[in-house]
Order: sequence, then C-alpha cells, then structure tokens
Amino acid sequence: MSELDPNVHPDAKRETEILAAESEMYAPSAETVSNAVVPDYLALRQTALEDIEAFWDARATELVDWYEPYDRVLDDSAKPFYKWFTGGKINIIHNALDRHVKTWRKNKLALIWEGEDGEQRTFSYYRLWQEVNRFANVLKSMGVKKGDTVTIYMGRVPELSIAMLATAKVGAVHSVVYGGFSEAALASRIEDAQSKVLITCDGAWLRGKTINLKDIADEAVKRSPVVQSVIVYQRTKQDVRMEQGRDYWWHELMSLPIASPKCESEVMDAEDPLFILYTSGTTGRPKGILHTCGGYQVYIAATLQYVFDLKDEDRWWCAADQGWITGHSYIVYSPLILGSTSFMYEGSPDFPYPNRWWSLVEKYGITILYTAPTAIRGLMRYGEAWANRHDLSSLRLLGSVGEPINPEAWRWYHRVIGKENCPIMDTWWQTETGGFMITPTPVVPLKPGSATLPFTGIDADVVREDGTSCDPNEDGYLVVKQPWPGMARTVWGDPDRYVEQYWAEFSKQGWYFTGDSARKDKDGYFWIIGRMDDVIKVSGYRLGTAEVESALVSHADVAEAACIGVPDELRGNVIHAFCILNTGVTGNDGLAATLKQHVRTEVGPIAVPSQINFVDSLPKTRSGKIMRRLLKAQVLGQPIGDTSTLAD
Ligand code: PRX
Repeated sequence: MSELDPNVHPDAKRETEILAAESEMYAPSAETVSNAVVPDYLALRQTALEDIEAFWDARATELVDWYEPYDRVLDDSAKPFYKWFTGGKINIIHNALDRHVKTWRKNKLALIWEGEDGEQRTFSYYRLWQEVNRFANVLKSMGVKKGDTVTIYMGRVPELSIAMLATAKVGAVHSVVYGGFSEAALASRIEDAQSKVLITCDGAWLRGKTINLKDIADEAVKRSPVVQSVIVYQRTKQDVRMEQGRDYWWHELMSLPIASPKCESEVMDAEDPLFILYTSGTTGRPKGILHTCGGYQVYIAATLQYVFDLKDEDRWWCAADQGWITGHSYIVYSPLILGSTSFMYEGSPDFPYPNRWWSLVEKYGITILYTAPTAIRGLMRYGEAWANRHDLSSLRLLGSVGEPINPEAWRWYHRVIGKENCPIMDTWWQTETGGFMITPTPVVPLKPGSATLPFTGIDADVVREDGTSCDPNEDGYLVVKQPWPGMARTVWGDPDRYVEQYWAEFSKQGWYFTGDSARKDKDGYFWIIGRMDDVIKVSGYRLGTAEVESALVSHADVAEAACIGVPDELRGNVIHAFCILNTGVTGNDGLAATLKQHVRTEVGPIAVPSQINFVDSLPKTRSGKIMRRLLKAQVLGQPIGDTSTLAD
C-alpha cells in the first residue's frame, strides 16, 4: 500500500453522506436555463474535449483584447511546462480597466465596499482606473519595473486590490501574503520572492479589534532585509512606528505630483509572470505557484462567465479574501474583465451579530453569493431566524468553494438562503489550477455535496494507481489528463519541485495529479473526498502538516513532531499534533499552551493545533518517514491497513 491511498478516508462520515445524496437531483428551472449566458453548456461540454485548442481559442478571442495576436494557442513542446497563446501581447489591466473606461462602463460601479465598522466606499470603473494609475505611477517612482516582485500584506480593503492591479499594470509580479499569516511566514515568502517593496496597512479590523499588521511587517522585514521600501496604507489609524527612509504612507505618496492619474499599461508577453501565490505542499517550505499573463485571464474570465452567469445587472459577492487564489481570480481580476459590479466586505460574517452577512445581501441587493462551506456551517449554527429577518430575494445564484460541502450544509444553504430558487455552484479547484475545474453551471442538474462535472474543455478523471479509470463509486486519484490555460506554470525558482509535485505520480501518462481523492457516481458526477497528501484543509484554509511540524520543532523543548487533520463538524478539519519532547522536559497543559502560541507566531492563528499530544515515539517507515496515516487511523478508530513498511 502506498502512502497515498484513496481508500484511507479522511472522513468516514463523507462516505455515508455521499451514498445518501447520490440519487438526490435538483434540476434547474426552465427560466434559469433559458436566461443563462451559456444555455447550451451541456452540449458544448460534449464537443469541447475533442478539440480543446479550438474551444480556448474562441474564448481568448471573445473575452479579452490582445495588443498583438498570438501565433499558437497551445505549445506543448516542453511538457509539463505548457505554454498558452504564445507570441500574444496583452496586459490584464487593459482588459480589466483601460478598455472599460472608453465605454459606458466608465460610470458603472466596479466595486462597492463595506468596512466592518460600517464605513462604505464605492468605485466606478473610472475612479478605480484612476486610482490604479496613480498607484502604478507611485510604484514606478519607487523603481518598480517589469519583472520585479512586490509583496503585499494587507487587510481586506479596496487598496489591496488597487495594489495588485497597479503592480500588474507596470508589468511587475505580485506576491500577496494573506493578512492572517505571521511574521515568520511573511518573511520566508518575501525572501523567496526577493521583493524589494512591501505594501502593508497600519492595521486590520477583525471582530471589533485591530490587528497590528505594521508591527508584524516590521518583524518580517527584520528577518528578511531584502525589503528596501515599505508603503503603509492607513486603515485603523492606530499608532505605528515609521522608519525614516524606508517607510512611506500610502496617502502621502498618492498626494504627490508623481501620482498622476494617467499611466499606460505595460505590454506583456502572454507567458510573462503575472503573480506568485504561496501555497502549502508536502514540505515545510511553501511553494510559490506562478501564474502568467495570457492563459490565466482567459481562463478566469471564461469560468466566471459560464459558471456564475454574470450579467451587467448583477451584484457579485465573492466573500473570500483577496489574499487567496479565490480572491485573486474571482474578486480582483475576472469580475473586472467581465465589467461587472463586485461587493466586498471587510470583516467577520457574524460581527457584530449573526445576521451581518444577510443584512448586507439585503442592503446591497446582492444577486450572487460565493463562499465556503465553513462559513455556511458557522452561520447555520445560529439558526435560520437570523437569515429570515432579511429579504434575500435579490439572490439568484449561490456558490461554494474550498472544501467538500456536506449535504446537510448544502440543503440549508439552498433552502434557508436560496429559498429553493438559487442553484448552488459547488466549484472544485486549487491555487494551482487558476480557476474552477469541476463545477456545475446554472443549467446543470445538481446533487447536494457533488461538484458535478468537469468544466468545458477540462479532461478530469478518477483513476487507480496504475492509471486505469475507477468504476462508479470507487475511490481513486483525481487527475487532469489535458492542459488548460489557467494552469500554474511552475513553482517560483524551483521547476523540479513543480514536476515532482504535480507530474511525477502519473508521469508515464503525462497527467496532472491534484493531490485529492475522489469518486464518480453512476451518472459520472464527481464527489471530492479530500486531500491524499500531507495537506490539511482547516476552515477551508490550506496548510501543510510539515509547516506546522517545523514550527513545533523550532521550539526548544520539542525534538520531533507529527501533525494530522481530524474531521470537525464546523471547520472541516482540525489539526492534532503529536510531539516527542527533549529529554528532561515534561509535557503538561502549560507547555501545550506555549507550543500553540509558538505556532501562532511562526505560522499564524489558522495553523494552531486544536490538540497537542505528548508521545514517546512516532510510527515511521524504515526510511524514517513519519506514517501520519497510522496516527490518523488510530485517532479515528479506523483500520490501520498495511503496516509492512513500518519500522517498529
Ligand atoms: O482539496 C481540495 C479543496 O481545496 C484544495 C485546494 O486548496 P487551495 O489551493 O487553497 O484552493 C482553494 C480554493 C480554490 C483542493 O485540492 N477544495 C477546493 N474546492 C473544493 C475542494 N474540495 C471539495 N470541494 C470543493 N468545491
């Protein structure tokens, strides 16, 4: 038995749920189908796979403008380093902003924002374009040029999007680090990307309190001295230390004459880097996933248009953080490319009361809400009365992402929030895939808890270790057999790791391995089971066991550590840690609390284990690899399976 075994279920409950929900079908209404932007989607799906290049060529022509046309749709001469739209010249900001301000959309709202404290701000396409131009000029004046990397570490404010858009405008590469990460995590990402410029905030609001982002940024810069300039956006107005000659206030820079509202977008090659986004893998060092300028924008625009059916009158709310791939693709870039109006909210869903989100839906007339199962489960806990206080009739579509949605949460979302009128788009995808991969569109009949079918042009399958396709309801490896334009191009600075991580498992066939296990039912519907590797999804956040383990062993009292994900009703999974202590140290509650705090500063609050067990030994293979699967089976009371590789 390999260490990656689809039959070792991360969650036995999921198995029972799938079997129960498999034959529960929700067909779209005739009205939904006839009003859909792509009503013939199911027929299109059938033909697209026969010629993926023709399909993507059509999308690249229809959805975005090119400064110069591409000569080839797909270049597969250096597999698995695929290239898309080679020879084409483009800039994502031309398609997201520049072209819209020359049309009636100039006056359309691009962004509506509400702060946790109730502050409201709106940006028309014209205003957003001007702000981005001004900040792009600021970046240029600080010496940022094409190909440079800029690290962004901010709270959920419009300026985070502006910073990303301005970086792309000047042809530089952004690396956004989620504002919930700690100084050590930020420092290692700055170091890996070699960013000379860091953009941050004084603080961020969270549940009525402020988090001092600037202090964390200062600590990170101390650890990673490559940073020469820090730009600080003032959000909370708390006291922060500004270092002369290194730190600059955003508002002061933006009031200088250099911050002119005119700035040409840099002409980029389709395969020039657009951004790096760090994500967790199987080793302690997070990997910088690289996305490029051409294929990525075509892919995210097509998937958003087909799946969420965006129309000019919609108000789209993707309730993620810009700091994750969901935010990059579906808050910042694709809604703007499609010329739509987005809503963004800064704070917690249940602050100050559990009806905050529902009041926002009503107040702003949100038509499409896209969120994560963990948020739905969290709000479901408060009971439906909180949602029922509000008129939610503006909603017409709902969405889910980040982890498998349990059928119970799906049905609640469908009934209480969608009033049985709103199809739920359960979108399966990854940082590496750039955009939605397995997903319904509004015309696809739904089953609660299934991400349904691969998107048009996506050749996904569930296979056995030898590459043969699994039978219906047999668990296997989720793979993608043909390339797609939104795919990651490499791991920043480490192409070998890219090959090893994604293309080694099925190297003979040349398939992309997702790291997930899944099954297809008798109707060909996909059911995602969960991660097969050492990645844990906690409240939809992706964490590597190795990251948490290296944080634990960096504490003076810990000799060795192993972490596993354990299913949790609310958060999907929580982390359990097993630590071997150094000789002479005794494990007790006090030390467990200290270690939790240590993980909090080394990685961030999301990585803190819910339980720490002190043990004398850990199960290992003869080559010394920790067998987390055995720890997990033991905690879950599941059969421990094959132990022939166990050393002791
Ligand atoms: O395990 C899958 C899970 O999230 C992983 C990717 O995480 P990340 O790169 O952080 O991207 C999350 C947002 C796209 C996948 O390998 N996952 C994501 N969406 C779903 C999901 N699992 C089940 N159903 C989903 N809809």
